[in-house]
Amino acid sequence: MAIYAIWNNKGGVGKSYLTFQLASEYARQHPDRKVLVIDLCPQANSSSMLLGGMEEGEKHLNSIHGQQPRITISGYISERISSPYKPTNSGADYITQVSLHNDKVPSNVYLVVGDEQLELQSSRVSGATKNGPDDGWRIVHLWITDLITDIKRLWNNEECCVFIDCNPSFSIYTELALTAAERLLIPFSADGSSKRAIKAVLSLVYGWKRQSSDTQSEFFLETARYKMSLPAIYMYIGNRLTQMNNSSASAFRTVVNEISEEIYSVWQSPGNTPFCIHPSNAIRPNTKKSFKNMFQFEVNDANTASVVSGALGIPIGILTAGQKKVAGITITVNQTQLDKQVPNLKTLVECIE
Ligand SMILES: Nc1ncnc2c1ncn2[C@@H]1O[C@H](COP(=O)(O)OP(=O)(O)OP(=O)(O)O)[C@@H](O)[C@H]1O
Ligand SMILES: [Mg+2]
Repeated sequence: MAIYAIWNNKGGVGKSYLTFQLASEYARQHPDRKVLVIDLCPQANSSSMLLGGMEEGEKHLNSIHGQQPRITISGYISERISSPYKPTNSGADYITQVSLHNDKVPSNVYLVVGDEQLELQSSRVSGATKNGPDDGWRIVHLWITDLITDIKRLWNNEECCVFIDCNPSFSIYTELALTAAERLLIPFSADGSSKRAIKAVLSLVYGWKRQSSDTQSEFFLETARYKMSLPAIYMYIGNRLTQMNNSSASAFRTVVNEISEEIYSVWQSPGNTPFCIHPSNAIRPNTKKSFKNMFQFEVNDANTASVVSGALGIPIGILTAGQKKVAGITITVNQTQLDKQVPNLKTLVECIE
């Protein structure tokens, strides 16, 4: 059980959707463990799905956002802006038990609710990294680590699994998520710009240069200066892969292979990019095939089933086939769509330790 960030430097690749599904399915597979989702994206999409989807979830989000103090990520960040360099020990005040709002999600899932105010707070968070004590940058980058520590303390340090949904941009709160995370899940979609996005992840987080003249990110240089650990690459996940016809399948395969080559070349290069060997008793892959078996995963497109799952806040693992009402419209979920993704996601979650 560990802290996972779900991030790619690209929008719309399924970060929030996978956060919702992974957290719900992990909680279902491990009813004796607590699961924490931290929504570090101002769009709060994973919060909306967890809290009940397009209608119910949005209603709960609005009501949570309307309360003072805000029991959201921004409520916590606001406290930290007032006390940037001294832990507030208050993180546990900011969790919401998801099943109190949406009984379709297992009762062991807890959420630090996303909040659009995060966007407004970001310049003050960045400001705090530049002021204060000499190691102000380091201390501010531990805010989310502190938040998780506070919540774990509330839970008597029972082991729990944490999923952090991130914003696509490499914003300050994405940096905070990545310093808190022990492991990184990188979803990608199989389109033309995916390879560039993966290269951006490798360069922004791990300092990989495309050309020797490239400058490295402040994040990479500062984490190295303070000897802070970076999240270990756990898996890169091709998402929404469809097998509509032979030509689309082969186009997808090309993109997946290119991305796989890119990450495999990093794995093979001398450098400090951390990868997380899993399961924990596995041996280090020594061939390209065993590397791919360990680090590459593919999630199929579930079409209407995924739309309904997200819109109604029903994890796809418990969604049933048949007619569903979404925003007043009747939509049919086919068993074949469920069969495409449900076993797929279950297998993915079985790989999450
Ligand atoms: N495997 C899948 N099958 C079908 N639909 C999917 C799948 N994964 C994601 N989607 C859909 O794709 C859309 C984009 O997904 P999502 O919002 O999770 O992306 P994101 O990476 O979080 O985007 P952003 O960068 O804006 O935060 C959503 O409508 C989601 O329901
Ligand atoms: Mg998102």
